[in-house]
Amino acid sequence: MFPIPDPIKRLVDGNLDAAVVVDSEWRILYYNHAYHILSGLRGRQLGQKIEAGVRPCAIFRFESCGDNCPGCDGSGMRSGQCEVEVQATRRSDGQEMTFILATMPLDSGIAVITYRDVTAEVGIQERLERLLDRERRQKELLEEKARESTEELRQAQVALVHRAKMSTLGLLVAGIAHELNKPINFVYSNAEYLGDHLENLLSLTRAIDTLELSEELRSELDAVKEDIDYDYVFEDSRKLIHSVRAGAERTASIAQDLRTFSGPSGGRLRVADIKASIETTLSLIAPLLKNRVEVRRHISPNLPKLVCNTGHINQVFMNILTNAAQAIEGNGFIDVTIDTINGGNDVRVSVVDSGQGIPADIIEKITDPFFTTKVVGEGTGLGLWITENIVRAHGGTMRCESEVGKGTLFTVILPVKSPETATNTLIEQPRAA
Ligand SMILES: Nc1ncnc2c1ncn2[C@@H]1O[C@H](COP(=O)(O)OP(=O)(O)O)[C@@H](O)[C@H]1O
Ligand SMILES: [Mg+2]
Repeated sequence: MFPIPDPIKRLVDGNLDAAVVVDSEWRILYYNHAYHILSGLRGRQLGQKIEAGVRPCAIFRFESCGDNCPGCDGSGMRSGQCEVEVQATRRSDGQEMTFILATMPLDSGIAVITYRDVTAEVGIQERLERLLDRERRQKELLEEKARESTEELRQAQVALVHRAKMSTLGLLVAGIAHELNKPINFVYSNAEYLGDHLENLLSLTRAIDTLELSEELRSELDAVKEDIDYDYVFEDSRKLIHSVRAGAERTASIAQDLRTFSGPSGGRLRVADIKASIETTLSLIAPLLKNRVEVRRHISPNLPKLVCNTGHINQVFMNILTNAAQAIEGNGFIDVTIDTINGGNDVRVSVVDSGQGIPADIIEKITDPFFTTKVVGEGTGLGLWITENIVRAHGGTMRCESEVGKGTLFTVILPVKSPETATNTLIEQPRAA
């Protein structure tokens, strides 16, 4: 065995870090007090092992200790001085440790290895990193919550604005419809009397015609008749009265539609005839369709009545049908199909239009509040957002499929009996868009 020079021994003994001297075969020849403590071995245990010619890896299992441990015979370290941070397991008690390992090969074939124990520092650093990480996550969570709250606030604002707008508009429309009712009834019933009076007058003149009159009187009467275009006046008056009554009837039915449509649901569910609701909507949007869009109906017989928030359901079809009509430039068609599915438990309404279609990159956004592709005044971007909320509150679903240049299909499925959530007058908050 190579005798270790005294200066080296003194250097090792005086080192504050644990240190050992190894020979060219990487067997431990000498160690200091700090190494003894670091090894976790008591009394003579370490001395005996070293006398038996062990290598450092018999005291610590280094992370690099594998089948071909490069550290044990020093082949990797003989080339020169090196310093590395390594993970190790103390064999005496299995404790995990971290060392800064420094190897100093000396001329005489021996080498000095020092072990700086940085386990505690590494532990603190890891704890710090964990703390920092936790803090970062909490910050992200807070930011996310703030974002969600802002979004919720915005949605609530939109809902409030809409609700206020709809209720004022509803009241206004219902008020006008109510006020229209009286004069229209007046016109309608008076036209009826007028018709009767006219018929009476006609029978009177007919009676006069059958009288035996003097030649002179008869020719005077004929002159008056010719003067006023008697035959035409009578025929035309009948027609006029008929069209006054038809006009009054039509106005009364529009007023009735408006009342049904905008009347408050009173916060409770009512029985609605889905077919009638769609017909009402179509007659209200008639000016949008006139001589341009053909509406084709495919309606299953024996449709069940819906129990729903009638005012809201009217809004659903108003929005979908208005969009369909607006999507058609020039002439086109709208197909409305109503049938039942799920053994009659759900009603399905499909609206197909021959409009311009919706590009794939925006179809996801059409139900976002304020999303619109229309010019100011034509669209607010709230229609489908409201529609989706109403359908959801009714426990139903809405789906949209579209092909640019061909048209769009909206399918709304509603349960025959809606849940109580449908009475919500405040539109439910949608998830952040
Ligand atoms: N039937 C349809 N055909 C083509 N595009 C449609 C149709 N329905 C909805 N859209 C698109 O969805 C957007 C949002 O619709 P909506 O929420 O009703 O708002 P608005 O009609 O006020 O724009 C519309 O601007 C339009 O781009
Ligand atoms: Mg719309």
